[in-house]
Amino acid sequence: MMMTERQDTSGERIPRHVAIIMDGNGRWAQKRDLPRIRGHEAGTENIRRITVRAGELGISYLTFWAFSTENWSRPDDEVEGILRILAETIPRERDELHQRGARIRHIGNLDGLDPHLVAQIQDTIDLTSENTGINLTLAFNYSGRAEILEATRRILKAGISPDELTPERYEEFLYTADMPDPDLIIRTSGEQRISNFFLWQSAFSEWAFPPILWPDFSEHDLEQAVTDYQQRERRYGGLLTTPTTQSGK
Ligand code: IPE
Ligand code: IPE
Ligand code: MG
Repeated sequence: MMMTERQDTSGERIPRHVAIIMDGNGRWAQKRDLPRIRGHEAGTENIRRITVRAGELGISYLTFWAFSTENWSRPDDEVEGILRILAETIPRERDELHQRGARIRHIGNLDGLDPHLVAQIQDTIDLTSENTGINLTLAFNYSGRAEILEATRRILKAGISPDELTPERYEEFLYTADMPDPDLIIRTSGEQRISNFFLWQSAFSEWAFPPILWPDFSEHDLEQAVTDYQQRERRYGGLLTTPTTQSGK
């Protein structure tokens, strides 16, 4: 999905959708001799300040990946701690985000999660569904392969014929059906891999791998990633539209 990007006051392109793989919470805590869960707490705190700055920069869609379907394989106490942080954070942050006009969404699979947590998430989505400010998406119990499999199952159940199945039609069955693809994906902590994130949606995304652990990732680091993005030349497999390329030579 290619869409026109907004420009800031100096005429620079603003990425319409920025997605963040919030990695490095555990290492942040270990460096301080703290239990890993303290890193998850610090990382969760950081979501607010990055969201506020992203809004000021004019980013329309901001997605945070908080928990993958593979993260269930971590020790029980870490998983339980992450679920507890999520359950505490939603009621604490929801009203302020709502007042700021954020529209909150979730992508991922909510099946089998604590019904109280699911209700909290659903209530937050409903409360903010008419808001016209930043689109804030939490990817929780999300992974790319699971999403593609789920979409495929639903396509088969809907009886869509092979001839009808275009990329645009396929996208209607993804969690991100009404969102643009990410222009910029930032993975913090220095790891340079996708780890099963937006497998479909990242086809033409630009990537940034700042070597900064997520709880330390600052507003300035976000601005830096956006500035670097503005220097990139996106081609989508084509050629730049200069007079030479237009003549096909
Ligand atoms: C990212 O931080 C948060 C989750 C995956 C839940 P990590 O917990 O992966 O932190 P590191 O990679 O171990 O430092
Ligand atoms: C990816 O990070 C998941 C999230 C940040 C939510 P991981 O730390 O789980 O990924 P790997 O294990 O390094 O691939
Ligand atoms: Mg990690």
